[in-house]
Amino acid sequence: MDFTNSIKYIGVNDTNIDLFENQYKVPNGMSYNSYFIDDEKKVVLDTVDDTKTAEWLANIDKVTTIVDYLVVSHVEPDHSGSIPAMIEKYPNVKLIGNQKTFEFIEQFYKLNLADEQKIIVKDGETFSTGKHNLKFIMAPMIHWPEVMMTYEESEKVIFTADAFGKFGIVGTKEEWLDEARRYYINIVGKYGMQVQILLKKLQNYDIKVICPLHGEILKENLGYYIEKYDIWSSYKAEEDDDGVLIVYATIHGNTEKAALKMKKILEDTSVKTIKVIDLAHADMSETISQAFKYGKIILAASSYNMGVFPCMETLLRQLVAKNFQNKDIGIIENGTWAPSAGKTMKEILAQGKDLRIIEPMITIKSAMSEANIEEMKKLAEDMMRWRL
Ligand code: FEO
Repeated sequence: MDFTNSIKYIGVNDTNIDLFENQYKVPNGMSYNSYFIDDEKKVVLDTVDDTKTAEWLANIDKVTTIVDYLVVSHVEPDHSGSIPAMIEKYPNVKLIGNQKTFEFIEQFYKLNLADEQKIIVKDGETFSTGKHNLKFIMAPMIHWPEVMMTYEESEKVIFTADAFGKFGIVGTKEEWLDEARRYYINIVGKYGMQVQILLKKLQNYDIKVICPLHGEILKENLGYYIEKYDIWSSYKAEEDDDGVLIVYATIHGNTEKAALKMKKILEDTSVKTIKVIDLAHADMSETISQAFKYGKIILAASSYNMGVFPCMETLLRQLVAKNFQNKDIGIIENGTWAPSAGKTMKEILAQGKDLRIIEPMITIKSAMSEANIEEMKKLAEDMMRWRL
């Protein structure tokens, strides 16, 4: 697949994989992207997961018989897994990376690379391959510390490592947004500050094409993707201010009834978008993604073992670990003899930044009462008032 006169896509689709990073469901598979620059010197940018080595080497055979340089943007094994195979097939190839790139390659693959096989570059350095000029942009923690991007100056193409990638394979008509959000929030979401630094750096570049290591090559309307990254990395609500997310964790259905009543109450207000998630049945990574998307969230959960129902505890701990911040949060707890869900949820959320709990939280004793319904109406009013 050519997308400029001399830059070609040589990546692979993985439709056998069920869990990416052995944790994220990928019902539409995953792509491991790799690129080739056809110049006086022949350059490959990144390898692929070692489950796809043979297919990838065959893709290289279709475009070249020589590989002079391999740029290593990221050493996570979904991209570095075929480095040993590349060196075996092209023993004269030179690898381009930074100091950390080579440390990590040695840790993973014990290759004992000779000094002459390593080209160590620093932020802003350039490297000519003939008619093309590669400029390296260090992008630490997007998503590992060694990550670097490469800007090709003559064709204004940027190779962005994991950034701007998504779950799913290349070559379908699947929309970018939802699976790119789920990918970003879960995998890079913690590192918003580093993404903000990168986005500022990229303002200095005239970019015509974005080549991520997962998902489609982005060639049009690039401002749209960059704006999404700006919103996600600055922890702003992506949904407009009128949106409310209700996430509930129920054992026997009474907390669910309260959550659905809360939804009905909100429907009678000016709230435009209300999304309800049954946490026990939902995909955790998708719920995390949605939680980042909304600015206003209502958490309803049963008490359990003097704490909170386990799936809610998992969600909140994951959110806090991913730097979840800047939300208005209402809490509904349920308990029969010693409600403990609310206290536990608050304790976990206290570890986050600027997570504003709307007090008082609502306590249901076993099943929702008329008084609880009045409290929920007040919570809806308070939540809307906070917006003003
Ligand atoms: Fe696609 Fe961080 O690896």
